[in-house]
Amino acid sequence: MLHWNNKPISNITVGLTTHCNAGCPQCARTIGKGNYDLESLSIEGFKRAVPPEVMSELMYVGFCGSLGDPAMCPDALEIVEYTRAANPDCHIAFLTNGSIRDAGWWDALARAIGKKGHITFAVDGATQESHEKYRIGTKLAKVWENLSAAADTGQCMIDVQMLVYKHNEDEVEAIEAQAKRYGAAHFIAFSTYRFDLLGDQGNLQPSTKYPLKHVTRVGDDHGGISCLTMNGGRLAVDTKYHLLPCCWFVDYDVNLHSKAGSLRQLIDDLGGLEPLSLLTHAWQEILDGEFYKKLVAMWDCQKAPGVCKAMCAKNRSHIASMTAKDSWFVQKPSNATGV
Ligand SMILES: C[S@@+](CC[C@H](N)C(=O)[O-])C[C@H]1O[C@@H](n2cnc3c(N)ncnc32)[C@H](O)[C@@H]1O
Ligand code: SF4
Ligand code: SF4
Repeated sequence: MLHWNNKPISNITVGLTTHCNAGCPQCARTIGKGNYDLESLSIEGFKRAVPPEVMSELMYVGFCGSLGDPAMCPDALEIVEYTRAANPDCHIAFLTNGSIRDAGWWDALARAIGKKGHITFAVDGATQESHEKYRIGTKLAKVWENLSAAADTGQCMIDVQMLVYKHNEDEVEAIEAQAKRYGAAHFIAFSTYRFDLLGDQGNLQPSTKYPLKHVTRVGDDHGGISCLTMNGGRLAVDTKYHLLPCCWFVDYDVNLHSKAGSLRQLIDDLGGLEPLSLLTHAWQEILDGEFYKKLVAMWDCQKAPGVCKAMCAKNRSHIASMTAKDSWFVQKPSNATGV
């Protein structure tokens, strides 16, 4: 069994690509444009990086990414088909803006995932005008068409995820009703924490109807680190086939959660990324190596990486609180129903 620091590994999240058709203003790929390579995993590379004997150990394989939309990866369908063939039982998740490719492709993707898994479509407005205030460059009608095609297969679960801002806070119920009508089984809406990281965003404003809960800040006294991914047995694979501790390390050159460049500095201090390459090293060899050992050692002292303090401090930060379900879901006003 694969393990890190004596904790078994059962989940991975995979960044399939750094390409995207959209330009969402608070996404790391939009903000950090020009500071990362444009690239996608290939089916041949993915099979080498995650061979059947590793895949068969996993319970969850998520295709999301920090710097791109998984549906933009040319080999995305083949990669999902390979994942399912190598592990008939794992849960496969696929998170997308959904305004890419045609209905036939989404039908095939849902069938490739099968009954154990879900596709999450991002819908941020009840109308095209409202949706594209955040999902710039996408077509709402196409999202619903592709979502319907996937739902009509009766295979994996279909979710709709909504980011709530000032401009769309009165559309939560309308989007939920649309999601049900087009065949989604699950609807989740949440207010973003990213204003805390990015400051004022011009014409984007935080929702006042659904404010964030549990807003506290962490200084140097972070109280130690409780690593969310290690405790949850989860690791991340980036678009260069590196095995990284979590998706917050994936966008190391443009990370929103850590001071500019500090994650890259940390990675340089830990000896660079080559020892984490899944094309040249075995999984357990990487997990037993210096990088993972040194990272654990850093959590015990004030030298904990900024990103670990921000996301996983025991004295929880405002961002860490977003990973709790009660604050992840929209906080309902007293007379609201149905979110
Ligand atoms: C970089 S995206 C990649 C997946 C896909 N392109 C998408 O947008 O769903 C990773 C996740 O970040 C979420 N995301 C994008 N903008 C966000 C924001 N302002 N606040 C919180 N989450 C956000 C997306 O909805 C998605 O679940
Ligand atoms: S669709 Fe996803 S990856 Fe693309 S810009 Fe928006 S948040 Fe980023
Ligand atoms: S940010 Fe640090 S502590 Fe949190 S999950 Fe990632 S590696 Fe673990």
